[in-house]
Amino acid sequence: MGDKKFYITTPIYYPSDNLHIGHAYCTTAADAIARFKRLTGYETFFLTGTDEHGQKIEKKALEKGVTPQQYVDNIVSGIKDLWKMLDISYDDFIRTTDERHVKAVQKIFKQLYEQGDIYKGEYEGWYCTPCESFWTERQLVDGKCPDCGRPVEKARDESYFLRLSKYADRLIDYIETHDDFIQPPSRKNEMINNFLKPGLEDLCVSRTSFKWGIPVDFDDKHVVYVWLDALTNYITALGYDSDDTTLYDKFWPADIHLVGKEIVRFHTIIWPIILMALGLPLPKQVFGHGWLVFDGDKMSKSKGNVVDPVMLINRYGSDAIRYFLLREIAFGSDGTFSNEALVNRINYDLANDLGNLLSRTVAMIEKYFDGIIPQNSSFDAAKDSDFVSMIEKLPGKVEADMDALQLNVALEDIWAVISRANKYIDENEPWVLAKDPAKSDRLGTVLYNLAEMLRYTGVLLKPFMTHVPEKMFEQLGADDESLTNWESIQTFGKLPSGNKVHKGEALFPRIDIKKELEELEEIKAANMKAAAEKANAESKKEEEIKEDVPVKPEITIEDFDKIDLRVGEIIEAKKAENSKKLLIFKVKSGNSERQIVSGIAKYYSPEEMLGKKVIYIANLKPAKLAGNISEGMLLAAEDKDGNIAMLTVDKPLESGSTVS
Ligand code: MSP
Repeated sequence: MGDKKFYITTPIYYPSDNLHIGHAYCTTAADAIARFKRLTGYETFFLTGTDEHGQKIEKKALEKGVTPQQYVDNIVSGIKDLWKMLDISYDDFIRTTDERHVKAVQKIFKQLYEQGDIYKGEYEGWYCTPCESFWTERQLVDGKCPDCGRPVEKARDESYFLRLSKYADRLIDYIETHDDFIQPPSRKNEMINNFLKPGLEDLCVSRTSFKWGIPVDFDDKHVVYVWLDALTNYITALGYDSDDTTLYDKFWPADIHLVGKEIVRFHTIIWPIILMALGLPLPKQVFGHGWLVFDGDKMSKSKGNVVDPVMLINRYGSDAIRYFLLREIAFGSDGTFSNEALVNRINYDLANDLGNLLSRTVAMIEKYFDGIIPQNSSFDAAKDSDFVSMIEKLPGKVEADMDALQLNVALEDIWAVISRANKYIDENEPWVLAKDPAKSDRLGTVLYNLAEMLRYTGVLLKPFMTHVPEKMFEQLGADDESLTNWESIQTFGKLPSGNKVHKGEALFPRIDIKKELEELEEIKAANMKAAAEKANAESKKEEEIKEDVPVKPEITIEDFDKIDLRVGEIIEAKKAENSKKLLIFKVKSGNSERQIVSGIAKYYSPEEMLGKKVIYIANLKPAKLAGNISEGMLLAAEDKDGNIAMLTVDKPLESGSTVS
């Protein structure tokens, strides 16, 4: 079998406080694959983690009044809790904010720059000034900023680029000569025809418009932008180019990068090119799995149809959720999550087919053999061959399924034997055999075969469920490690006769489907209502934001210098005779005095204004207001509700002082 090492990764997740069951899908699948490899004797390294940089995070942290690091720390700890609840057996959890990653990315960036694969250029995009964000044409919503809905302007920014174009031909050649590299095969055609053949544009790999990223250490105006930071996690976690490269030397190249279908593109175009540029081997396979959709709709926080994995795990246990995810969806295709499908799987597959089989078998051994596993001494070829041979072949079948990443097929194959076992009971009618003492050996053999079949099943289910197999082994009196490893299911008949079974609780209690679905519907309705209310509140907030007074067109410092602002002291103040709005002031400025008319009668009385040190424009062309000459203008601030406050100085400066 050669070198039994195996390295599998999940994508690193964006820190979101809203991980849904769809996110859990990818990690659960990777966990089952990793566990299967460990079971079959592979030294396995399973990596997951979080992708923590970027402008979005920077902004969210700002909104919450925390630092970006505090913001991500909090979310990452929630993500780790979820993986714990699901028993995800990762060997390492990399965060792109880890020092080890930051250092390595800086080194990689510098190396690629020095060898000419990264170069400095200009990035052109759409810029939203208030948000300080660059957007691509495609990201705009109705030609406006997708975040705030305000107009955007075409703008250029200095940026570093990765020379994808240089490697395109080499990559096409690689993909075409390595059939396993992109799986399933449909995704390979999509990459070649839709992305590679039309030609690759060089990729922008730095930004200057935000700070929350890995600084380019030789040009710290720039931070590394998205994919170069994210993708390299697969090698930085192994200590690539660090003081300790043991893991890298052992596990790279990866056997499988398991990713959702929408990010196959980045993993099969950008990532291999980065590796080619670094002179490193490419991963053996990128597998793009499908999406989990909810009642025919993509899960989305704003729609409120997000299914919370924590709620489901608390309700049904992690094994039921793991089983459902891995069994229900043909691996590689999209699949539907529905409450009904979940509850049905729990009731039919787990409680009935598997749970009942175990409890019936254990109960019969207790009843007919005082709980002692009987001898397997009365083999009946006509009645047993087919069943036993199915059991014997099962490990090989499951291994082939898992090698092809057909996780759902592996479970189907296991369940085919479970169904066969239930049928075997009906065919052999142990309760009839029990009535005839002369058939005791035959009865013993039937029950032995069932118990042994259940032990095989327990071992094969270990990658998929993390509690059920243990419970099965305990009930079967087979919890010794030598009876639960891969080796133990290579020969039928290892379960020792004479061991004692222990009747336990039902593996999965049956669920009252009608009642359950009603409760789940109530939860869903409450979530949707909450989401709708939140969306409402947010759109109100947005509207308020939209009402902000627009910023005027840009001016230069030279433009601003033309305005002569001064501190003036109000030495006389009176109401204008011919206008209710106006007050007329005599303003002292150094050694001179002037008259200034201002429309603030609604907000200030002449008495209030007397003695104030105000700011005024000294070089404004004089104008007549309701017949009164005004030689300048007093500065006042006005909020959205029309409240007015005069600008003054906060220390007693002399009148005539300049303002800049
Ligand atoms: N940070 C990037 C990946 C960088 S890898 C170098 C990212 N993160 S993500 O949090 O948005 O997505 C993580 C994974 O969850 C992706 O593989 C994505 O496809 C998967 N899923 C998100 N929603 C999903 C479903 N509804 N169904 C199945 N998987 C889904 O992308």
